[in-house]
Amino acid sequence: VSKKLWGGRFQKGTDKVVEDFHSSISFDQRLYRQDIRGSMAHARMLGQQGIIAESDARAIIAGLEGILKDIEAGRIEFDVAAEDIHMNIEKILTERVGDIGKKLHTARSRNDQVALDIRLYLRDEIAETRALLAKLITTLLDTAEANVDTIMPGYTHLQKAQPITLAHHLLAYVQMFDRDLDRLADCARRLNRSPLGSGALAGTTFPLDRLAVATELGFDGITENSLDGVSDRDFAIEFCAAASLTMMHLSRFCEEIILWSSQEFAFIELDDAYSTGSSMMPQKKNPDVAELIRGKTGRVYGDLMALLTVMKSLPLAYNKDMQEDKESLFDAVDTVKGCLTVFTPMIATMRVRRETMKNGARGGFTNATDVADYLAKKGVSFREAHEIVGKMVLLCVQKGVALDDLTFEDFRACSDAFGEDIYEAISVERCVADRKVPGGPAPEAVKEAIAQARRRLNEQ
Ligand code: ARG
Repeated sequence: VSKKLWGGRFQKGTDKVVEDFHSSISFDQRLYRQDIRGSMAHARMLGQQGIIAESDARAIIAGLEGILKDIEAGRIEFDVAAEDIHMNIEKILTERVGDIGKKLHTARSRNDQVALDIRLYLRDEIAETRALLAKLITTLLDTAEANVDTIMPGYTHLQKAQPITLAHHLLAYVQMFDRDLDRLADCARRLNRSPLGSGALAGTTFPLDRLAVATELGFDGITENSLDGVSDRDFAIEFCAAASLTMMHLSRFCEEIILWSSQEFAFIELDDAYSTGSSMMPQKKNPDVAELIRGKTGRVYGDLMALLTVMKSLPLAYNKDMQEDKESLFDAVDTVKGCLTVFTPMIATMRVRRETMKNGARGGFTNATDVADYLAKKGVSFREAHEIVGKMVLLCVQKGVALDDLTFEDFRACSDAFGEDIYEAISVERCVADRKVPGGPAPEAVKEAIAQARRRLNEQ
């Protein structure tokens, strides 16, 4: 039975079943870089404060540097019996630099150590996730720019409603992903405080310079309560909540991609490189990527629920339950990053079938509101105009024609406010072009919205 770093008060070794059960090295080895970086900063500060000899601090830091290199080169095998990444590294350090290595853990607990490591880890992952989101937004803006005049039907209740453009539709998603960017920045801002110095729960009697460590590690400051410092996982939950929203946005978008690439819609065709076939049906070209992203959304919601549930009812301060934070957090990070990585090029390479989109915008009385607006602009009250046009639509449905197909006499029979210009006023092009209100689908409004979104992205 291997000797534990905490083995002093024990007369017996850990049962093998327990050892396997509570070991986290299989997954928390992902934190090795953060763990070593934190230990280096801690050791340096211990030396500077005269808590350990400066020469010991130097030896520890050099030892950690060597371990880092060896881990990156794949030369280190971790030991389940050493429980977690923190004790694995400390054990290897002591094997390498001797008893000096045993001084590293002065004025530190694994509780503040792990809290530090996850914060460092998540800070980097947030930056990467934000970069992926920014890339997606850029792709959407580029695609929108090329489709400012691509008319398509807009829907409510998945029933044709009013004509819009593909650019306008894509810009709706730009808004969602822009909010996601902002939420992640907000999460990173609150996360960015160093918990080191909180000790196990009650701080330490040693004269630490917490701020020096925090500064070296790129934090904006230190956590202000030692109990909270070791037991706060809000930042991980906030990340999972933000990631859940991103996944929800991706999933809605994927649902539309799936619909649009169906034969019934045929609005787009996905590139071969982002579609897959069927093992039985030779003709198939399926939007599996979009479906898989839609499916993976549930995982991230699950990760969020798992973290919330782990944390609920935990008394202060650290409890071993909190070791369960990592797999959910890692899964949420991996999933959202993986989905963004494949989604962006899928959108960038899809082919837009402009004619089908435009034809789609023509059917379904999508210009009925414009007929009513026309009457309202001629002095008929909107309610009355709505009633008149409703009757006209009914007439058209019975005849099996569109509003544009009615003769001028038909129009006049419904209201003498109609003039010859009615046909031009209700063409799909005009229906779109006249919606110039800020935030609307008119090409000039959309161009302005694209420019504004680009400015915002540059400020992010
Ligand atoms: N592996 C542990 C975790 O991930 C590190 C902290 C353990 N602390 C303790 N007192 N058991 O939470």
